[in-house]
Formats: sequence, C-alpha cells, structure tokens
Amino acid sequence: MSTEKNIALEFNEFSKNYTSDMIACVPCYADLISSFIKYLPDNFQPERILDLGCGNGNVTSRLLSRFPEAKYTLVDASSEMIELCRKLFRDHDMSYANRYFNEFEFERDTYDLVVAGFSLHHCEDPEKRSMFRKIYSSLKRGGIFSYCDLMISKDHPEHPALLERWKEFVERTFPDGEKWEWIMEHYEAFDRPTNYPAQKEWIKDAGFSNIQTPFNKDFWVYLQAMK
Ligand SMILES: C[S@@+](CC[C@H](N)C(=O)[O-])C[C@H]1O[C@@H](n2cnc3c(N)ncnc32)[C@H](O)[C@@H]1O
Repeated sequence: MSTEKNIALEFNEFSKNYTSDMIACVPCYADLISSFIKYLPDNFQPERILDLGCGNGNVTSRLLSRFPEAKYTLVDASSEMIELCRKLFRDHDMSYANRYFNEFEFERDTYDLVVAGFSLHHCEDPEKRSMFRKIYSSLKRGGIFSYCDLMISKDHPEHPALLERWKEFVERTFPDGEKWEWIMEHYEAFDRPTNYPAQKEWIKDAGFSNIQTPFNKDFWVYLQAMK
C-alpha cells in the first residue's frame, strides 16, 4: 500500500481525539486555526469556500461562524474525518468529497476562498506545486487562498533545533515521552514539510499576488495569497 493510501487509514485512527491531540501536540494550533478568520479583509464575503484536508472540521467551523451563508465543499481522504464533519455540520448544506487531492476535480473559477489547514505538508514538493496551480485555477478573480502549516524542510539547518523545541512543547502535556515517539513516527511516515521561501516562490509562480504571512512563529506559518 502506498504512503498516500495509508494517510486515510492514519487519519481514520487519529480522528478519535483529534482536536485535543492537535492542541497539545501542535504549537500555535489554536492561533493558526483562528488566523483563518482573523486576517481576512474586513469587506471579504465569500460565497463559495473549498476546505482541502478538512479533518474534523475545525477550519470550516471557524469560517461558518463568520460566513454562515457561504456554500462549503469539504475534501478529505479519511472517511472517518468526513463522517465527523457530516455529524458536526448536519444542519448545514455542505458538499463532501472523500477523496485524495489528486482525485478531486478542481473546477475552474469557482471558489472565492480556498483553505488548507495542516494538510498540504502531507504532499511531496511536486504535488504541492501542482496543488498551488490547481488552487489558483479554481479561484475566482479576487479570491483568496489561505493555508497554515509547519514550513521548514527536514534538511533545513534549523530543523533539529525546531524538533527539540517541539518536543519540549509536547512533553508539557505528555511527559512520559510516548506521545512524542508517536508524533515522530507519524512525522517520518507521513509529513513532508517544505521551507516557506520555496513555497512562496511556487505560489507566486502559480499566479498569486499579495502573498502575506500575518502569523509566523517558529516555522508555524499562516499565509494568505490573492488571485
Ligand atoms: C492534520 S489534519 C488537518 C485537519 C484540519 N484541516 C485542521 O486544520 O485541523 C490533515 C488532514 O488532511 C487529510 N489529508 C492529508 N493528505 C491528504 C491528501 N493527499 N488528500 C486528501 N486529504 C488529505 C488527512 O486525512 C487529515 O484529515
């Protein structure tokens, strides 16, 4: 079974205590999720929103609080995550795609806002570049792409020190070391983070302008770009 196929199974398992695990294991998780509404322009009123790697719906929940009338499309490879979203958003008319990104059909000039919370670091660099191009094509003119993730490559000179700081953060909640061991197994098998400067170039190459990182702390980055 390919790594990609395993992602769905991994997140089916991870879905059980997902939000509490993310808060305890991902530095700045709450700040980064809040960024999806905090930094959008005041007058921005998206009608159609695409959430790539929706997980259990934390990003869409935030967006819904500000844009209750928008039409949402949620994509995720994990059937358990999609099921959690179906329950959470049962009173809303959402579209769901239980698909890998490379199986999802990005319709052209369709969305006003495309969001990706902690999901694109699962893609290898060529897939990230291709995703930026597909996202650009799927946005309407004036549309916004917003994305948060860990943005440091594993061969970056600062990467070992980042891992040390991350470990200290996790061990504040889980001091026995088992959780950190699990995170590192997941990180090795499924996470392919990329430096911010490289991603910025690819996002620019895809056609985006006004690329900004209003939240950026210790390689945990929230970015916004405009079509
Ligand atoms: C770390 S979770 C993030 C969930 C949510 N966006 C958040 O910010 O809390 C990553 C999600 O992306 C999904 N995912 C990862 N790679 C994917 C891919 N290639 N295609 C579709 N979904 C993917 C996983 O199944 C998982 O639910």
